[in-house]
Amino acid sequence: MKIAVLSESAAGERRVAATPETVKKFIALGASVWVESGAGRLASIEDRAYETAGASIGNREATLGDADIILGVQGPPPDHLKGVKAGAWLCAGLNPFGAGETGRARVDEYAKLGLEALAMEFMPRITRAQSMDILSSQSNLSGYKAVLDAAAEYGRAFPMMMTAAGTVSAAKCFVMGVGVAGLQAIATARRLGAQVSATDVRSATKEQIESLGAKAIFVEDVKGIEGEGTGGYATEMSDEYKAAQAALVSSHIAKQDIVITTALIPGRPAPRLISDAQIASMKPGSVIVDLAVEQGGNVEGAVAGEVVERHGVKIVGHRNVPSRLAADASALFARNLYNFLSAFWDKEAGRPVLDEEIGNAIRLTQGGKVVNERLKGSS
Ligand code: NAI
Repeated sequence: MKIAVLSESAAGERRVAATPETVKKFIALGASVWVESGAGRLASIEDRAYETAGASIGNREATLGDADIILGVQGPPPDHLKGVKAGAWLCAGLNPFGAGETGRARVDEYAKLGLEALAMEFMPRITRAQSMDILSSQSNLSGYKAVLDAAAEYGRAFPMMMTAAGTVSAAKCFVMGVGVAGLQAIATARRLGAQVSATDVRSATKEQIESLGAKAIFVEDVKGIEGEGTGGYATEMSDEYKAAQAALVSSHIAKQDIVITTALIPGRPAPRLISDAQIASMKPGSVIVDLAVEQGGNVEGAVAGEVVERHGVKIVGHRNVPSRLAADASALFARNLYNFLSAFWDKEAGRPVLDEEIGNAIRLTQGGKVVNERLKGSS
């Protein structure tokens, strides 16, 4: 059983899908591990460290040759996989709903190569799969980093300070979307001393916001406010709800210094939460961080990969925020992959054997075909 760890090739991707710690653990399970030379460099892991852990280091061809399982953070370009063994597993974040050549089109190419492509972001949200969930592990770090990015762009301090020269008032920070990233953003902004408030469409988050010491800003008395669909994810809200939310947010946002938006609805473009008029109502020097910018953006005028200024307000739209904390993000991502493969490791077969619930949820391609229910009918 040979496991191959590839260098990431997407622009700006600094993470790596295995660490010396997970290499050691895979070897303890009986696998051999090959790491493409330089794969960990941008996450501060040298080839030497992988070697010490027991991995072999080689170029892409040697790493891939005869591999049974290929690990990646993002899906590799199909032309990097030439000569791969038919039936080999590819475990990575595969962006199957994405448009263009890095999204769905790539899944079709993996099928043609005979790979069994396993999309780690399709991991079901069930208790036993929590430790395998790349969306949670990476979103948590994004929420933290979003607050630091806001602080770096903000020309004032976060905490209240009483000094001999006078008082500096605390920054007011509003978090929109309280999933994994939002909860960490609230906790981080609180630690930095900001006055924090937050909102979500899922009413279950109200208690979570308050338990972190932040103020919950919620639409009340509107039909269908539960907002919770399957697996703990949000659903699309009614027009009545959207109008009530916009009115509530408008009055609140004008008083905020920092806004962090994280709202997502799986398989759909991100909901628009902040309009240009609302940005214009904010004080000059305020900062908005749009963590949903790559999924279409929560904020009007946010640009993926850029910090732009509108009406004196900075709008931060960094791409791939977890990659900005590449060492920790890689460590958690690599553990997610190890937790997944080891949970299904069949000692007699000397390889992982998936069960139906998780296998059917994450398997995109098999036997030359696209087999995932969520992708049927789309191409
Ligand atoms: P997400 O990244 O899909 O969305 C982020 C947040 O945006 C969600 O809280 C969502 O309700 C909110 N949102 C969507 N539309 C909105 C709107 N119009 N206005 C304001 N907020 C809006 O969600 P994430 O962070 O992946 O997780 C959501 C929940 O899933 C978690 O809070 C948790 O309860 C559950 N979960 C369960 C896991 C498990 O059991 N294995 C693992 C991870 C999360």
